[in-house]
Amino acid sequence: MIGVNCACVLIAALLLPNIVTGEKPLLKTRLGLIQGLEADDGDYYMFLGIPYAKINESNLFGESLPHPPFDTIFEANDDSIMCPQREEFNQTIQGTINCLTLNIYVPKTANSTNKLPVLLYVYGGNYIVGFNGRYMYGPKYLVRHDIIIVVFNYRLGPYGFLCLDIPEVPGNQGYKDQKNALRWVYNYIEEFGGDRNKITLDGHSFGAISVDLLLHSMNENEKLFDKVILQSEGSLSPYAKLQRLHEKSVLKMARHLGTNTNDVRQAITFLSSVNSSLVIEASLKVSIVYSDCIEKTFNNAFKSMSNSDWNIKVPGAKNVSFMIGNTENELIHVYGLDIPEISRDLDQILRSSKYSPLTAIDTYEIAKIIHGLSQNERNV
Ligand SMILES: *[C@@H]1O[C@H](CO)[C@@H](O)[C@H](O)[C@H]1NC(C)=O
Ligand SMILES: *[C@@H]1O[C@H](CO)[C@@H](O)[C@H](O)[C@H]1NC(C)=O
Ligand SMILES: *[C@@H]1O[C@H](CO)[C@@H](O)[C@H](O)[C@H]1NC(C)=O
Ligand SMILES: *[C@@H]1O[C@H](CO)[C@@H](O)[C@H](O)[C@H]1NC(C)=O
Ligand SMILES: *[C@@H]1O[C@H](CO)[C@@H](O)[C@H](O)[C@H]1NC(C)=O
Repeated sequence: MIGVNCACVLIAALLLPNIVTGEKPLLKTRLGLIQGLEADDGDYYMFLGIPYAKINESNLFGESLPHPPFDTIFEANDDSIMCPQREEFNQTIQGTINCLTLNIYVPKTANSTNKLPVLLYVYGGNYIVGFNGRYMYGPKYLVRHDIIIVVFNYRLGPYGFLCLDIPEVPGNQGYKDQKNALRWVYNYIEEFGGDRNKITLDGHSFGAISVDLLLHSMNENEKLFDKVILQSEGSLSPYAKLQRLHEKSVLKMARHLGTNTNDVRQAITFLSSVNSSLVIEASLKVSIVYSDCIEKTFNNAFKSMSNSDWNIKVPGAKNVSFMIGNTENELIHVYGLDIPEISRDLDQILRSSKYSPLTAIDTYEIAKIIHGLSQNERNV
């Protein structure tokens, strides 16, 4: 590890005003010293697992708070941090509640006179799964186009999307995490070589719903991005806006974990003291459905939309460029199974033990089947 004294010497001879080249780039930022890594698959630096907000330790279900600056060098080298969830692919319960981190990927061409545009990515996952690791959201291909990529975590499931009618847990906590991440990027990305006037907010599926809602929640005095990309979803999606209240579910979760109470606050306080893996397990047991939440008028409400908001004015959308689209045959692996040709061929591939887990070749075979069907213009 480079000592602070040594770092100060090195910082004088820079590329970026603050970046030191070498095996491990060291950045001097307003948040303190941040040490990243050099990528081994391209000409870029990686700053992994930087906390952009922190959890309120007395209320893990409430709003996240600003993260204090670092007193010692922050080693930005861990992209395995995940918010509590049942992992999407192997279905094991994973994650830690101190998960509000972001990963920043910076092409080496960035410097103080060559500030690069920024792509800020919001993962999907239906309010319950997803994380920012390179395992799913690596930068390798995009970073070649001289843009900075940022991918952040936000809380999921009970920690991100409980909608209770109390100021401690008003709802939309996960969206507020997202907004905190946007603010962090707007405030600090220039120190990483980014241009804060060129930020594109991009998301797919539930991430696209998020991007759309973030656009709606923006006001003219706080423009945190200037372009958006919505991939295969939007805030008018039937998956958004279920507007449930979760009081009963929270009481059931507490009961499941051994505390009988009819008081939602008591249940939340209790659940804040329980291991997050057990809380996720309990939330799965009581089958909660999450959605964005029409908040009551507590402070700092996240502006969501109601079902009657079809013609709403969106002041934050002024001068914001849009790209929006969907994927052909999307969700065919779910809905296509009712169509005989698809289910026959897919069944053969998916259910044969030889193909578990799927290899690249299986995926290719599946893609060929789906492509063949779309060539025939099957309407699925
Ligand atoms: C943290 O949560 C507790 C319990 O809800 C609350 O009293 C306190 O004000 C919160 N802290 C901050 C800094 O918001
Ligand atoms: C499940 O996935 C997580 C996240 O990638 C990983 O850390 C964990 O080791 C995996 N567990 C098993 C049993 O494969
Ligand atoms: C900054 O980057 C540009 C483009 O890569 C390059 O032409 C210029 O020389 C760089 N400036 C410094 C000070 O490194
Ligand atoms: C929660 O429980 C799991 C499984 O028993 C354990 O691996 C993990 O370390 C615990 N987490 C905390 C924060 O105590
Ligand atoms: C939109 O962009 C135009 C041209 O750059 C500028 O004159 C105008 O002030 C912008 N409007 C808003 C609301 O930002």
